[in-house]
Amino acid sequence: MFMHNKLLFALLILFSPSLSAQPQTFLVFGGTQGWIGQKLIVLFQQAGHTAIAAKSRLENRQTIIDEINVIKPDALINAAGITGRPNNDWCETHKQETLRTNVIGTLNLADIAYQHNLHLTNMSTGGIYIYDEQHPMWSGIGFTEEEAPNFDESFYSSTKIMMEKLILNYPNVLNLRVQFPISTDMNNGFVARLTKAEKVVNIPNSLCVLDELLPLAVDMTLRRITGNYNFVNPGVLSHNQILELYKEYVDPTFTWKNFTQEELDLMIRRPNAELSAAKLLNLYPELPSIKEALINVLKQIAAQNLGKDI
Ligand SMILES: NC(=O)c1ccc[n+]([C@@H]2O[C@H](COP(=O)([O-])OP(=O)(O)OC[C@H]3O[C@@H](n4cnc5c(N)ncnc54)[C@H](OP(=O)(O)O)[C@@H]3O)[C@@H](O)[C@H]2O)c1
Repeated sequence: MFMHNKLLFALLILFSPSLSAQPQTFLVFGGTQGWIGQKLIVLFQQAGHTAIAAKSRLENRQTIIDEINVIKPDALINAAGITGRPNNDWCETHKQETLRTNVIGTLNLADIAYQHNLHLTNMSTGGIYIYDEQHPMWSGIGFTEEEAPNFDESFYSSTKIMMEKLILNYPNVLNLRVQFPISTDMNNGFVARLTKAEKVVNIPNSLCVLDELLPLAVDMTLRRITGNYNFVNPGVLSHNQILELYKEYVDPTFTWKNFTQEELDLMIRRPNAELSAAKLLNLYPELPSIKEALINVLKQIAAQNLGKDI
């Protein structure tokens, strides 16, 4: 059956209440080596499903179709994307490569998923907003999914905005906007980044504790939820607050330096903002605040450092 509109897709979900109970097969792009993709594979497997890391590149239409025909997945997950190494600035000098994956490739996958009547969960970014007059810092007024992105000053962010605008035309797509992901794994993520930084910008942000949120990505996929979601814990924490909590729960000897105002004045703008978690909270009212979720993660990091479980 070929889907024509959102209503048809919603009806399909409504009348398939047992869908999430049956073991299913998921094809995960970015699941071979990607940080988030590998975590998702483990979570799907722990939930009793089969999750396979896709071998195809996002831009290679025919190999993706061939892979789908061989594996016959029930749904697709996209955790592949160019983030830039060592950071997003790489994208400024590698625009074609960034476009090929983040726009052309991602859209290609959504289109193939649509043609094969497959749900696609796309891991995207919340780094497309910056505080403005209507959403000042510490106001508690977060950007909602309905508000147009207002930060396209980095090429990375601009590709994610382009992609989001296009991909949301597909009724089979769930787009999850991850912002500053954090996890107990200290090789990656925002706490790792802050604790290793020479100097820290002190600004509040929305954050995504992966340990809390990725299981929701699995659940949303199983429920075939579609549309656009800010994928963050409710509330904000400043970078200094994060490090104060790190000092309190993990390393009492930890110290850090902030940039001076003169240094900040010379820096390029970054997408720092509060995103509203209200839409996600409607689905998952128990979602813990960012402070609560971060403290849980920090306690686990402390326990890992001592070599014991909590
Ligand atoms: N990590 C963050 O701070 C963060 C924050 C917000 C949003 N996100 C978004 O979340 C998604 C996953 O991020 P991540 O942190 O897991 O990134 P990651 O660790 O860099 O993983 C991304 C994976 O995508 C693969 N990839 C890149 N281009 C591809 C292509 N054309 N076809 C197939 N695979 C391709 C890469 O494989 P190769 O190395 O083989 O190319 C890599 O393994 C990205 O879209 C990112 O924008 C991440």
